Amino acid sequence: MSAPVTPETHTGLDSPVGVWWKPAHRAEKLWVGIAFAWCMVLFAMMPLWHLKGGQNPSGIRRRTDPTAFYQRTQEFIAQYKVGTDRGMPIVEPPPGSDIYLAGMTFQWTPILRLRQGAEYTLHISSLDVNHGFSLFPVNVNFQVVPGYDYGLRVTPTSAGDFRIICNEFCGIGHHTMVGRVIVVDTAGRELARSEEAR
Ligand code: CUA
Repeated sequence: MSAPVTPETHTGLDSPVGVWWKPAHRAEKLWVGIAFAWCMVLFAMMPLWHLKGGQNPSGIRRRTDPTAFYQRTQEFIAQYKVGTDRGMPIVEPPPGSDIYLAGMTFQWTPILRLRQGAEYTLHISSLDVNHGFSLFPVNVNFQVVPGYDYGLRVTPTSAGDFRIICNEFCGIGHHTMVGRVIVVDTAGRELARSEEAR
């Protein structure tokens, strides 16, 4: 039972003349095939990258609490402090040691002074909300989550004066959350004087 309609009018009571049941064009089948194959490649890459890629965090991870981590960072600062830059302590730990960096709204503390080629275990955590550790201008990125202590094994490969940019929106002062890492060369020389660097 269908309502009388003129050929020009489509009322919704009758099925319009469709084209979608025509067989797909060869080119369309080909593209669907390529897209599907690529999906499978990307799908396989996820576990493959986990097992073979060099992207996994290079150290330990354990729970901590912000107060304890802050206290440990303060101890670390008191132990190895060598100066300040506009009130922020500059800390120079011996090669091979455990070093501490705390992210909080809206700063990274302390300023680390490291040696090129030496290995450190970088403990990094947040005292409040999620922050993003992004070392500029090199391509190092890490999520900094409160409640977790990430002990990353790091070896600075080049000397210089680096900035830590927060790349996770963390509040009104997010854009001002800039920290600093100084890497001295293998002879212990700084490429720029700390007090003058901006
Ligand atoms: Cu910390 Cu954005």
